[in-house]
Amino acid sequence: MYILGLESSCDETSAAVVEMDTSASPQIRRIRSNIVASQIEVHRLYGGVVPEIAGRAHIEAITRVTARALEEAGITVDQLGAVAVTAFPGLIGALLVGVNFAKSLAYSRGIPLVAVNHIKAHVAAAYLSEPTLEPPFLAVVVSGGHTSLFSVTSYTGFEEIGATRDDAAGEAFDKIGRVIGLPYPGGAALDKLAYEGDPKAYTLPSPALTGDTLDFSFSGLKTAALNLINQAKQKEEEIDRANLAASYTRAIVRGVSKKVGQALDRTGHRTVVLAGGVAANSHLRRELEATCRKHGATLVTPPISLCGDNGAMVAAAGYFEYLTGARADTSLNASANDDGC
Ligand code: KG4
Ligand code: ZN
Repeated sequence: MYILGLESSCDETSAAVVEMDTSASPQIRRIRSNIVASQIEVHRLYGGVVPEIAGRAHIEAITRVTARALEEAGITVDQLGAVAVTAFPGLIGALLVGVNFAKSLAYSRGIPLVAVNHIKAHVAAAYLSEPTLEPPFLAVVVSGGHTSLFSVTSYTGFEEIGATRDDAAGEAFDKIGRVIGLPYPGGAALDKLAYEGDPKAYTLPSPALTGDTLDFSFSGLKTAALNLINQAKQKEEEIDRANLAASYTRAIVRGVSKKVGQALDRTGHRTVVLAGGVAANSHLRRELEATCRKHGATLVTPPISLCGDNGAMVAAAGYFEYLTGARADTSLNASANDDGC
């Protein structure tokens, strides 16, 4: 079955066609097209995502991106078995563009419509890159807006067992990146810069909360890094950017790995799926690889092209929702929070 996946929750407009049949042997999980129109260049001028500009840019791009996704997949709209769309969480004005477009397309052609949770979609990216992956597993979702640990019990069943109590890991990377003069979004640039510095140069607090909890807090770490930068400025010194990038990255990576280790001990899962934009971080991938090895678990990480926001992951998540019988209609609304799940 072909599923069209539409994504417009933040600053990428994406449409993709995936072909799925998990009852076939071997299973079919194929990306036929995955078109991503990034708005990063526009938002870079402002140092962050401007919601109104994001909404307008999605409107300008969505028809073109969808047409290209169908063309590249070599199929027509009438061959689609379902239209899947990210309905929550995200920027409300941005989400509404995808949701309204999907509703119109599905209604006018009589195609089943499925609402998708963006966070579950990040995890579903791993089903596309790892054809034999099946639940149960531990999912680590690290993105610009989220940092959570889930015990994934079925293709659609997620139990959140840990989460950040304030900022997300991606936000923490982007904030310090901006302050030390790296282009938005700072995550990828900090990843590179960290190789040039000494990770032990600065002592920074861990984002892993102490004790039994599997929760995180990134605000203390962010403030500590900002204080280092400001103290250097007051002394009319330059902070060593590479040392800060390396030490800051080390604090984040070790904090996340620590909670993943605790979550593995608690749940007994033997597979870990790392997903979301920050899953592209090479230091995090390496550290989690070592943590998983220590716990006798296997780490599954989608390729970088499937870590950031994209329509293919939405289509994959939509397929599994479709199989449960979930259907949306023209009353579907977008939600900024994940209370739509
Ligand atoms: O999942 P995503 O594309 O959007 C959200 O759903 O939030 O994640 C975007 C986030 C940004 O904060 C970006 O800086 C971060 O992912 N990111 C990285 C890397 N590549 C992207 N963070 C750290 N290291 C990277 N290599
Ligand atoms: Zn995302």
